[in-house]
Amino acid sequence: MPRNYRLPMYHRQSPAIRCLNFLCAVLLTIVFIAGIIFFVLWLSLRPHRPKFALADFAIPNINRQTGAANLPVKFTVNEHNPNQKIGIYFDAVYGSVYYDNNELIASGPVAYPFYQPPKGDLPVQGELTASGPTPTDPSWQRFASEVGAGSVEMRLVLNSTVRFKVKLWDTREHHMKVDCGFKLGGDGTLLKKNSPCDVYF
Ligand SMILES: *[C@@H]1O[C@H](CO)[C@@H](O)[C@H](O)[C@H]1NC(C)=O
Repeated sequence: MPRNYRLPMYHRQSPAIRCLNFLCAVLLTIVFIAGIIFFVLWLSLRPHRPKFALADFAIPNINRQTGAANLPVKFTVNEHNPNQKIGIYFDAVYGSVYYDNNELIASGPVAYPFYQPPKGDLPVQGELTASGPTPTDPSWQRFASEVGAGSVEMRLVLNSTVRFKVKLWDTREHHMKVDCGFKLGGDGTLLKKNSPCDVYF
């Protein structure tokens, strides 16, 4: 019986090929581990949006005979930076107050540009002047009856441009919109304080 000198396939691979296979496996493992490290870094370093809550809102002397026109509109929105290491540059903040979802009754600048350090808080205080509703507006009847009933539904929208300050890289600008829905009592004061606002980027 002739001796079979043929070896199985894998034993025939030259040492060079086997070395290459080993290097490939090591390289793939390194790439995999590096990927996991980058993912974890990204999770812990990625910026979180600032948080907002409507702390206070008042239109003193609002009433069902003359409405709100020309009355001062005062509010405080608490801003909080939830990031451990990332600061936030805010551009000027602009405020708009709506009745009936889209009837603009007051608007104007609310805050100068500011820098919010990591974990920082800032009460953003605004004072605007109401332009309505007035008795000639289509929404007037509803407004007057809501004031009489002691619950007027309104919205405060803040807009600005923000930029995150990350140590390793600089991020681009984001247009930001903060939307706070709330109810005003018949005496012109906020019914439920400190409700969180929605933030849109
Ligand atoms: C905020 O909104 C006002 C009114 O709509 C607009 O004039 C202003 O340019 C806006 N600001 C930013 C930063 O988008």
